[in-house]
Amino acid sequence: GGRAPRPNHRQDRAAEETSALPPLPVGGLPPFANEPDTDPALPANQAWARAAIARGTAPGWLDEQSIPPRVDVGDVDALVERARAAALDWSARPAGERAAILYRAADLIARRRGHLVAVAAAEAGKSVAQSDPEISEAIDFARYYAHRALDLDAVTGATFTPDRVVVVTPPWNFPIAIPAGGTFAALAAGAAVIHKPSAPTPHCSAAVLEALWDAGVPRDVCQGVQPDEGPAGRRLISHPDVDRVILTGASDTAALFQSWRADLRINAETSGKNALVVTPSADRDLAISDLVHSAFGHAGQKCSAASLGILVGSVYDSRRFRRQLVDAAASMVVGWPTDMSATVGPLTEEPSDKLRRALTTLEPGESWLLEPRMLDETGRLWSPGVKDGVAPGSFFHLTECFGPVLGLMRAADLDEALRLQNGTDFGLTAGLHSLDPREVRTWLDRIDAGNVYVNRPITGAIVRRQSFGGWKRSSVGLGSKAGGPNYLMMLGEWSDSPISG
Ligand code: ALA
Repeated sequence: GGRAPRPNHRQDRAAEETSALPPLPVGGLPPFANEPDTDPALPANQAWARAAIARGTAPGWLDEQSIPPRVDVGDVDALVERARAAALDWSARPAGERAAILYRAADLIARRRGHLVAVAAAEAGKSVAQSDPEISEAIDFARYYAHRALDLDAVTGATFTPDRVVVVTPPWNFPIAIPAGGTFAALAAGAAVIHKPSAPTPHCSAAVLEALWDAGVPRDVCQGVQPDEGPAGRRLISHPDVDRVILTGASDTAALFQSWRADLRINAETSGKNALVVTPSADRDLAISDLVHSAFGHAGQKCSAASLGILVGSVYDSRRFRRQLVDAAASMVVGWPTDMSATVGPLTEEPSDKLRRALTTLEPGESWLLEPRMLDETGRLWSPGVKDGVAPGSFFHLTECFGPVLGLMRAADLDEALRLQNGTDFGLTAGLHSLDPREVRTWLDRIDAGNVYVNRPITGAIVRRQSFGGWKRSSVGLGSKAGGPNYLMMLGEWSDSPISG
């Protein structure tokens, strides 16, 4: 409930851009509603998107934008100390005041959507179709956590003491939404943040931090820094005065952080090896569309991406199904963000060893239904690949490769499909396409994954509607889900109220 009726206005993104500072909300926050993505059918928005991409990708433009300062190991103690001191004033402010500032930051991000599209295209190779929804998600995180800060404040019978210093280390694949999510959450809970951008995407992080500062978050309450990957990074993560680390990244990174500090409090969303199951009762056209979008959106560089299609019985055996799947993959337009018709963009960096193996080699039993091809000399632009005959227990069945390759497996029945789908160390996203309610029930009871989707793509979780977090090796630390009602509650200590019986 509580959704305010919206005037039926025509979206005009260019007209929404203004450098004016939006007012702080007065008399409480507006009710939460998910921010709408840009309507790409409107010619004015198409022109706006083209202009933003052209601006961002113009030679030299990105270099003129600011990034968080580089720091070395000798600087780390002082910046942690600054955060610790600043946290006291921030957490002592009424929750309503913090929430209002964060809400204003969300409004600023909305007014800077074109700038964010430009930065994400230039820095991460994101098309507007890929960056636009994550800008909406960043705005959603900000507003949603502002509301949850008010809830936290209203809890009676126990007291909550927020962490004082939280280090936020986001990934480069959602370089706007995830940096925003962790940072807004910790600030909403009352902590000071030290934000360490992912190495390939410091400009995206900077754009989020600037909105926070411009909205009124003090600089020492939210610092952005780029420690070197060696001693400074290690000192920051393992610093005794850092209360918590919020990490989104590879499982190996979480393990490395833990090896640096035994009592590290870490909340990490990590790797996945995600499959979508299609049973004979499925709407096959919908299944094919959802498979290719889940597999190849942002060139498969999503922890949530479908990298396995597990086809049950007659679906696998249907040559027609497989031909249509391959046609759908082959018809995706691959290109740089300046190509507005591209649906599969570049890799953010050249392929890792794992991805190169997935793109260029076959294991026993495998064959290409659609062989991926490197399309230009940068090594970053690859056409989608579909490999058939992935064997249970093989490299491709078990390993996250993070790129535009979809592997197909055959299962005799739903039982076997579930064994294959649950048969990896990870448990991030999982999908089922089935129109049989008994199959759906069985699958929901037995699937071991944090985010489960029926008859829908397995990427693109929406704040509040589909809170996001992993199971098994896809998460480390207490697993309250991002974009869900309990996330803020884990960012501090609870104690019973002093009222005694
Ligand atoms: N939250 C991102 C998604 O759902 C990872 O695709």
